[in-house]
Amino acid sequence: MSPTERVERVVVQHFASPLLQALGFDESEIREEFETGCGQVDLAARKNGDPEDTFFRSPKNPYLLLEAKSRAVNLREGSYYRDAVCQIESYLLAKNCKSAKWGIITNANNIQLWRKHGKVVHPATANFSINPDNIETIVRDLRNKLENYERALTICVYNNKGGVGKTTTVINLAAALAAKGKRVLAVDFDSQGDLTRSFGLSPGEITLTQCLKDPKIDVHSIIQSRSYSIKNAKNKFPYIFDSTLDISFDIIPRDPELETLTDSQSLAYIQKGTRRLRDLIAPLRNEYDYILIDCPTQWLYFSQSGVFAADVILIPTRPDDPSSLNNAVRVITKFIPETARSRQDGGPIALPTFFNGVSSRSEYTIRLAHEEIRKLIDQEKSVDLLPYFWPHFKKGNENKSIFRIPDYAVISSAKFDRIPAVFNDRRVLEYYQSLAREYFIDE
Ligand SMILES: Nc1ncnc2c1ncn2[C@@H]1O[C@H](COP(=O)(O)OP(=O)(O)O)[C@@H](O)[C@H]1O
Ligand SMILES: [Mg+2]
Repeated sequence: MSPTERVERVVVQHFASPLLQALGFDESEIREEFETGCGQVDLAARKNGDPEDTFFRSPKNPYLLLEAKSRAVNLREGSYYRDAVCQIESYLLAKNCKSAKWGIITNANNIQLWRKHGKVVHPATANFSINPDNIETIVRDLRNKLENYERALTICVYNNKGGVGKTTTVINLAAALAAKGKRVLAVDFDSQGDLTRSFGLSPGEITLTQCLKDPKIDVHSIIQSRSYSIKNAKNKFPYIFDSTLDISFDIIPRDPELETLTDSQSLAYIQKGTRRLRDLIAPLRNEYDYILIDCPTQWLYFSQSGVFAADVILIPTRPDDPSSLNNAVRVITKFIPETARSRQDGGPIALPTFFNGVSSRSEYTIRLAHEEIRKLIDQEKSVDLLPYFWPHFKKGNENKSIFRIPDYAVISSAKFDRIPAVFNDRRVLEYYQSLAREYFIDE
């Protein structure tokens, strides 16, 4: 055993194992050095099933993984912290850990809980600095999170640049996820109401604005359902055998009064300001698999609220628009960290960006976009932008691929039909389903 491994063992035995017990796992529910399929993680835990199915005897289907580091390693911030995050993320996504929902990284000085939802691993708590005074509160907070796993992943689609396809992405991703059998809610938090109009909806008797202003109103009263009967479904969905397929998902539509919420006087009616939307959708987090939020371009009340409410931010860019790349960098380096500082629970985080509206003749433009991205990565000193633009790039495999949604006339004309383009065109459906697979769904 190397000296590093030895000091790590001390953390495992004297801190991490007792911690897992404090989190509700007894000794027979914890295994050391669990083989994830992508390396060994220090500890894994799962509640025992019947007496025949103890985790100790059949170490399969872990629920929680814990990676320990020595106390000498700086887990507060910097490169060791980032490496530990990458490590827990790859363990959680490894083949023997499909059932795992949580990951912890700790060196007994710092501790952070991470959550896995499908393919997404995101912070569930701040990265706490542990001291004798706060350890009990931290354990309570972690235990509370573990016992209340929320069903939904909340995604805000945002770039501080107009016309990149934010609304289009929410519409088609919501529809593609619903077509996969997921329970989906789309929230129109743009006062212009493009999303609401695309679905051909109008506000109900009780509106989103009223609900924002009055916390006593039940949020369910502003949710509307949209159902689509897809004809010739067999041709579009290879796994469907019936000729017609009914797909539905829910929407919180925008109402015209939302537009008045722009000055400080009218915003004063909304308690908690940009935190209000997060509270408003909180009761829905156990009712849906995905909550998608559409918001406007300007970094003002609506977008700040959408980003504040989200677990992760999905950022569309356009390869033919360098300004969309520059603005993506602002979102990643400025707006998200700003929001995370005020939320103080580790989130939200950005997912890797993608190219929207790529025309079949744009290989040259894409090359230029990659040169621009290289410059942006090299210039940026505060954040390592590489994984946000080139998520498949590794030492020895300089893969710069960026996920693409092509430019299709049917995507832009779909607004007039009030039907998401994915339901009209099989190619479009396949692209948005690959977007869902690339970022969200683990299958
Ligand atoms: N992949 C695409 N192919 C064709 N048209 C697209 C595509 N993505 C977006 N559009 C069109 O581009 C315009 C801007 O998209 P939109 O989603 O409204 O952007 P944003 O919400 O970011 O302002 C819309 O007219 C939309 O229909
Ligand atoms: Mg829009």
